[in-house]
Amino acid sequence: MAPNGPVGLAVVSNRGPVSFRYDRAGGLVARRAGGGMVAALGPGVRRHGALWLSAAISDADRDAALAGVVEAEGYRVRWLLIDAAEYRMYYDVIANGSLWFLHHGLWDLPRRPRFDRRWWEAWEAYRAVNRRFAAVVADVVDDGATVLVHDYHLALVCGELAALRPDLRTTAFVHTPFCTPEEIGILPRDVGTSILAGLASAGACGFHAVRWATAFQACCEDRLGRPANTFVSPAAPDRADLARVAGSTACAAELRWLDQTVGDRRLIVRVDRIELSKNLLRGFHAFDDLLEARPALRGEVVFAAFVYPSREGLAEYLAYRQEVESTVRRINQKWATATWTPIILDTSDNHPRSVAALRRYDVLLVNPVRDGLNLVAKEGPLLNERNGVLALSPWAGAWDELGRNAIEVHPFDVADASDALASALDMPAAERAERAIALKDAASRRRPTEWFDDLLAAARPPGW
Ligand code: G6P
Repeated sequence: MAPNGPVGLAVVSNRGPVSFRYDRAGGLVARRAGGGMVAALGPGVRRHGALWLSAAISDADRDAALAGVVEAEGYRVRWLLIDAAEYRMYYDVIANGSLWFLHHGLWDLPRRPRFDRRWWEAWEAYRAVNRRFAAVVADVVDDGATVLVHDYHLALVCGELAALRPDLRTTAFVHTPFCTPEEIGILPRDVGTSILAGLASAGACGFHAVRWATAFQACCEDRLGRPANTFVSPAAPDRADLARVAGSTACAAELRWLDQTVGDRRLIVRVDRIELSKNLLRGFHAFDDLLEARPALRGEVVFAAFVYPSREGLAEYLAYRQEVESTVRRINQKWATATWTPIILDTSDNHPRSVAALRRYDVLLVNPVRDGLNLVAKEGPLLNERNGVLALSPWAGAWDELGRNAIEVHPFDVADASDALASALDMPAAERAERAIALKDAASRRRPTEWFDDLLAAARPPGW
């Protein structure tokens, strides 16, 4: 039997629900992992007592795994130990450096991708890590168990499981967008086919929005000559957890700080990872254009960006961060006065502060170039206390639920985004209030446990 007791339900994802760090005395301290996927899965996993299998990512995670930690922050956990060099190839080169770029349309095609020998070695590492995940799952779960596999890191796991354990009921949930049949043609032919075949071997493949499921189907029909079993279920914010953070003394202190900093000026906010697909740069350019086009707004509005570093193992992300910082510096130098800093760029990853900003914004900017869902677009309206306007890109999956009451922002058209920010700031109070109520209603329609139940209901044996 598995060390964690009987396992009728397992969740499998690269990043687990907790990460570890060392305290000053060298002891291991668990901390809840960040990111939308963990937030969306947590309540369902806890309610069902599922086993969560994930990679030990940091040295501290590896030590926790070796020390036999099987429970943390209320979760039953099982870690996979992966050699650090192999992990980098699987995670940085293939998952984040290739598949993430593919599905979000981020490649700078005249230069990247370049499938050289190093890349092919990394692809072998990706396959090996996926095989290892599948082998551990096959080893620890009960007969007929349900296994919910997540995201582009583990696209081959369901294919392996179908061969090893055809008795299992599986879903492969894809949290990202999905590329088109033309785009998947950028990958080497066998690689694209393996990814599709791996996902399509799941009992069902889930997506946050219809368009990503449709794109996946089109890829399967084009490349595999058959459709896959898909379902669509958008994830929901964890309202209880948001309310807990919003009610904390830390959040109250951050709100006071924000009140002092912003004063009676109006506030545009964004909360994101420093991530190419989130389109931070064009957001700042749009604000620059707004200050140019509307002189009356100078000194009257602050753009606060709470954006935290992410995936810094990739050169593209490091370069992007530098470009974000220098763009903000340039815009601030251009417009700042003795009493007004136009853009606050906060990269400190301070969750209570981000929640305080979501409570207080007049406009929330969410302008990704492509996004599977975007939970911040739902969390903002739930937390906001000022009838704030949501300025949203239709390329975010969340558009399907929120678009009707948001202001549309074209992710590539900076002039359009500047006009959208202007109309959001100009919106009459009655319309703001009406839209804010409708957005809160749309964002609170579903609970995370309902989303999790959709995954459970969709799980099937392979080839069903
Ligand atoms: C975001 C994405 C998920 C992804 C997660 C992990 O939340 O929406 O699709 O699984 O990031 O990324 P990370 O950078 O934490 O490894």
